[in-house]
This record gives sequence, structure tokens and C-alpha cells, in this order.
Amino acid sequence: MTKGLSIFELGDPILRQQAAPVEDIQDPGLQLFIDRLLHTLLEKNGVGIAAPQVGVSRRLIIVASRPNLRYPSAPSMEPEVMINPRVMETSNDRVRGWEGCLSIPGIRGEVPRHRTIVVEYLDRSGQLQQRDYEEFVARIFQHEFDHLEGKVFLDRLESVQDIMTDREFLRRFEGG
Ligand code: NI
Repeated sequence: MTKGLSIFELGDPILRQQAAPVEDIQDPGLQLFIDRLLHTLLEKNGVGIAAPQVGVSRRLIIVASRPNLRYPSAPSMEPEVMINPRVMETSNDRVRGWEGCLSIPGIRGEVPRHRTIVVEYLDRSGQLQQRDYEEFVARIFQHEFDHLEGKVFLDRLESVQDIMTDREFLRRFEGG
């Protein structure tokens, strides 16, 4: 039985550090960590998570959009485990959209992000992968990648007026 990991929240210095590259993908400890991180993401109704959010300052993220209680209108995809991800291209056009973060419970912010993005990463078997993402999934990637650079979505806001509570967000946009 896989156990969930605890989430580190805003104020913990690890969320403000630049994460170090993953070196040994075959390490059984790393593979177990990936399973636990996937489990944690599902358990917490996230659509993405980054290793520093569970106290591991390594360049590993999971992007896993799907409709759930926190994001009822998210598109569905198979979870992608991305090790040492790199941004290859970004669109010049940016779109604003609402984001939350497991490390910043209770609030959402409307954040501008590149509309499309091309990324490269190593999957959990060590194979190099390239993906093109757009819209909400591109947004998730950019949000999680920021965690590896010690940034959170609050740093990307154009104005503090672009924040609302989770409850207000769900009431207003999702009929919750
Ligand atoms: Ni986050």
C-alpha cells in the first residue's frame, strides 16, 4: 500500500530554492518516490505536483490534468512523470487563467502563461520525450516548472486583485 506524502506549504524555504537535477533514474528509491508522488497527487485532487512540494529539492514534476473536485472542468490525460524537464519553445501570446496550488491552500489566482509550449524531459524509464502542450495543460507545466525554480504562482500575478478564495472560485466558476 503506497503512502501519501505530506505537502510543504508557502513559507517553507524549500519552495524558494532552485531544485537540483535528478542523477540516477534507475535508483529504486527514486522509483518508489515517483509512485508515492503520484499517489499523493491523486489523493489531494491535484492536476500537477513538483518534488519540492513534498520536501524533495529535485527536478521532477508530474503533469496529470483530469476533472476532479478542485478542477471540475480540467481536460483528461494520462499522468506524465517528467524528470529534468526543459522548456524548448514558448508562444509569444499569453493567456490568463485561474490556478491554485497544493502548497498555497485556500486561494486561486488569475495568472498569465504562454498559451503553447514545447518541452523535453526524461520519463521514468530514462527515455527522452518531447511534448507540445497548449492551454490548460501548458499552464500546468509552467506552474510545476516554476516550482523547480523556487517560484510560485503568486510571483506571476499582474495584480493582487487577481486573487480569490477557493470557495468563491468554485462558487463563481464551477457552480460549487
Ligand atoms: Ni503549485
